[in-house]
Amino acid sequence: MCGIVGYIGHRESYPIIIQGLKRLEYRGYDSAGIALLNGGLRHYKCKGKVSDLEKVSEGQNIGGSIGIGHTRWATHGIPNDVNSHPHVSQSGRLALIHNGIIENYASLKEALVRRGFHFHSDTDTEVLVNLIEDIMIGEDIGMEEGVRIALNQVVGAYAICVVDKEQPDRIVVAKKGSPLVIGIGQGEYFIASDATPFIEYTKNAVYLNEDEMAVIQLGAPLEVRSLNNNKLVDPYITKLQMDLEAIEKGGYDHFMLKEIYEQPRSIYDSLRGRLLVDRGIIQMAGLEEYKEKFLHADRIIIVACGTSWHAGLVAEYIFEDLARIPVEVEYASEFRYRNPIIGEKDVVIAISQSGETADTLAAIKLAKSKGATIFGICNVVGSSIARETHAGAYTHAGPEIGVASTKAFTAQVSVLSLIALYLGKENGTIKSSDFQRMLIELNAIPSKIERMLESDKTIREISARFKDSHNFLYLGRSYNFPVALEGALKLKEISYIHAEGYPAAEMKHGPIALIDENMPVVVIAPMISHYEKIVSNVQEVKARNGRIIAIVNKADTEIRATAEYVIEVGDTMDVFTPLLTTIPLQLLSYHIAVMRGCNVDQPRNLAKSVTVE
Ligand code: AGP
Repeated sequence: MCGIVGYIGHRESYPIIIQGLKRLEYRGYDSAGIALLNGGLRHYKCKGKVSDLEKVSEGQNIGGSIGIGHTRWATHGIPNDVNSHPHVSQSGRLALIHNGIIENYASLKEALVRRGFHFHSDTDTEVLVNLIEDIMIGEDIGMEEGVRIALNQVVGAYAICVVDKEQPDRIVVAKKGSPLVIGIGQGEYFIASDATPFIEYTKNAVYLNEDEMAVIQLGAPLEVRSLNNNKLVDPYITKLQMDLEAIEKGGYDHFMLKEIYEQPRSIYDSLRGRLLVDRGIIQMAGLEEYKEKFLHADRIIIVACGTSWHAGLVAEYIFEDLARIPVEVEYASEFRYRNPIIGEKDVVIAISQSGETADTLAAIKLAKSKGATIFGICNVVGSSIARETHAGAYTHAGPEIGVASTKAFTAQVSVLSLIALYLGKENGTIKSSDFQRMLIELNAIPSKIERMLESDKTIREISARFKDSHNFLYLGRSYNFPVALEGALKLKEISYIHAEGYPAAEMKHGPIALIDENMPVVVIAPMISHYEKIVSNVQEVKARNGRIIAIVNKADTEIRATAEYVIEVGDTMDVFTPLLTTIPLQLLSYHIAVMRGCNVDQPRNLAKSVTVE
């Protein structure tokens, strides 16, 4: 996701836009830019933060009372000056900023190239601004109609602002799938991805609806239209109640909670364009290019740290079960120093949300130097790890601000599941009918999570009951053993309660000595294969007076009869259970940490990205 800001009114637009972009840097911060109408169209942009943009525009002509600005979170094209927004049309007449993804940009670009357009960037946004220009010239129409016709040719998500140096008294905006709000002041209008950039100027706001556009003109009332039929829409003015900080967090108390609730969207975005259920196929360019390396690999070595390492453990189960390719999962910090045996027939998958974790980066450099093929799963386009790999597949989870990783984990597991499915199909180790069923089921995961997030009342009750515990145990089997580790890490890192995750069957080899009436034991027990085994494990804990909190399916009866508390999760195929069972554990750790008065988003001693050894 990116941040967009616009201003038109009686004040200087530059300072308002720059301040607004700084407030939106949580939405995207790999590059920034601004376009100003002041007797001409001027634009300044660069890789880096808004403060870098200020340096670039220092001393330049930054006057004027109409402007648009952008902070980027790259999805197409690495972060660099050329790919930064605004993008200007070929004639230099239009400037456009965009938050979203245009899925059919390649075909639109081909048509424009045939019509004589040249492109400088790798972005989908540059295609859109030239499509609008092409239509305006071809049909001899103004910017408003040109934008509307162009957007009816676009497939994808967008929130855009467009300015035209030949119509220097207006800004045209449009929305589909990405947020856009218009602040209505006294003789001035503000435009932004959320209300933080203008909250101190006005509390009157119009949130554009899907498939709507607006013409925002100096001295004229706001004109909102339907993109589909161009009919005028009566704008609904909302009176904003939230303060600045609350808006940044989307109304949630913490970024972590916001990111937990973003997971249906972040998983959908990570699967979009790759999981094509209607066609019954998986499309992943980087993977397809290296599929022979995967299919003929001696083994896949997964290197990662922390939560990303847990995603790697889930992947080990999935890859070996579905694609029958040997997998090893290594802590990057250990792998890089233990003089590992690495060959040219090894494929190394590096998993990293930040793409900057020093141990993971060093591990893949070592593997690369020994001839292995390196494949990256990163959440930051153009990050150091992404640039070090031969190929990769980005998670499109959007910026993850909370130090405790949540949506990045489920996005990683989603993408890794796609890869395993693809390789299993190519390997012939997944029957075609099973493959289709799995595609359909994976596609349904976001809506299943949506339903689970509707009520976390039970989780709050449990949190209140156990917030003062000194220790927790988390138990899981099969695909859910890594989830037990992840649940324990979440609790540890934000509530500072000691917690350990174990394979449920491992209890009898020592840890069961810890069980007594003071030990909360979270058991992750969906009704998947070997369910009867975990029922026994739960009874072993119960027999020693452990306090059992069970994550179960609706149809479960046996564990419900034994557990003190149960949290229900949706039903799904064994292989996809981690995507569902992780969610209540994220919420449990969140609520306990809040009740303990901990700094949930920035826990003590921790950094969001460990770029040091
Ligand atoms: C997880 O909640 C922690 N923030 C931490 O373990 C994190 O997963 C680890 O540092 C790896 O970070 P990365 O995914 O950015 O490489």
